[in-house]
Amino acid sequence: MSADGQIVPVADVPTDTTFLFRVRPTDADIQESPDRESGEIREAIMLRDDAGVVGWLNYCQHFRHIKLDKGSGAEMRNGEIICTNHGAYFESDTGFCNFGPCEGAYLSEVDLAVEDGVVQLVDDDYEFVGCGGIETDPTDLGSKSNREF
Ligand code: FES
Repeated sequence: MSADGQIVPVADVPTDTTFLFRVRPTDADIQESPDRESGEIREAIMLRDDAGVVGWLNYCQHFRHIKLDKGSGAEMRNGEIICTNHGAYFESDTGFCNFGPCEGAYLSEVDLAVEDGVVQLVDDDYEFVGCGGIETDPTDLGSKSNREF
């Protein structure tokens, strides 16, 4: 959809996994990850439930360069988003980690709203860039495996 904040028709947002999109921080102070430049494009995810849609940055709170949705939808179980690297569980409606190495942490929220059946980015800290993930992401090297050799 257009770059004016309209992301996707709400009917196209899954309920059993996540929809991936890209945002750019508009606030120079936002440093969600120490290895990212201020203003650098980030990935975000959204999912839908009976209450509407919720959005989060697509990064675990244990190792914050690790993506929850690696391009084909995040793993989910019983309404919780699972980080497949070390098994952290995040409540999809609050972003709260209730199990795993970052227990007690929260995912970083991205504010969304539904207007006329379309999901809009309404977060003053971010602007919508596009749907899908970052195709070439130099900080994504650890997203597939977190093993150190
Ligand atoms: S990187 Fe997500 S639980 Fe460790």
